[in-house]
Amino acid sequence: GDSKYIHTEKTDWVALVRIVRHEILNALNLELVSELAEELLRLDGENDVRCIVLTGGQKAFAAGADISEMAGSTAIEMKMRNQFRVWDSIRLVRKPIIAAVNGFALGGGCELAMTCDMIVAGEDAKFGQPEVKLGVMPGAGGTQRLTRLIGKPRALELLLTGRRISADEAYRLGLVNRVVPSEDCVNEAVMLASEIAKQAPCAVQLIKEAANKALDADLQTGMEFERNAFYLLFATEDKSEGMRAFLEKRKPSFHGK
Ligand code: HXC
Repeated sequence: GDSKYIHTEKTDWVALVRIVRHEILNALNLELVSELAEELLRLDGENDVRCIVLTGGQKAFAAGADISEMAGSTAIEMKMRNQFRVWDSIRLVRKPIIAAVNGFALGGGCELAMTCDMIVAGEDAKFGQPEVKLGVMPGAGGTQRLTRLIGKPRALELLLTGRRISADEAYRLGLVNRVVPSEDCVNEAVMLASEIAKQAPCAVQLIKEAANKALDADLQTGMEFERNAFYLLFATEDKSEGMRAFLEKRKPSFHGK
């Protein structure tokens, strides 16, 4: 499923989605984000995909929203354009999404990486929310997700200064899962995705949903969600297979049912 800005390759159970607008560092214009969300939601419905890797280019994962597209807009035009509806739809994807980040992940690019479930960073990756330097602020979750992920004091420092941080600093802050040589970044992310793709798909999806509840809801609500999801998995063939395989001392073979 290739479109103007989005190219997808599939390997065993893993879809690798690339943003290709490299000439302006993958600046995220409205058309690009629509294509991306559409593609991710399409892959969410494909039976031969169990995990998704999202990447950009060598120099930039994405350098943020397309400033030339926003520069002339009024508040009411921004409000009526309702661009975040399409951003929010990415959260409807139930399969795990791993961002493989090389180069700049700034503004909307950093927000896009945080919208994914995990981040593998190349050692030259740079993260930041520079919107404050443009006289605005994040609009695609930067103030909310960064604060939930790394805590308010450290998030505010980045949000209020617009300072960029290195992959290593992002790792220390808990923003990224691992830092690898840049040339290995996409492969590492695909390998992690393959490992996840071997697990029982129903369990994987419910675990992602439950982990999101930990960020979205109070503890008791999250605990209740977890428990009901746990019970629900006892209705799957994969649960019977997984437990039987353990008792028979063999590897399970999961089918997503
Ligand atoms: C439009 C962009 C862009 C962007 C880069 N370009 N980022 N165009 N929107 N966000 C374009 C440049 O204008 C330039 O085009 C080309 O890409 C190469 O960029 P350079 O600046 O020449 O490269 P370099 O000197 O290496 O600097 C890289 C950079 C810088 C540090 C990433 O480009 C930069 O600061 N970009 C803006 C980052 C930013 O502020 N992002 C937040 C946007 S606001 P030409 O035509 O000159 O070659 C935002 C709000 C989110 O994201 C709200 C949610 C949607």
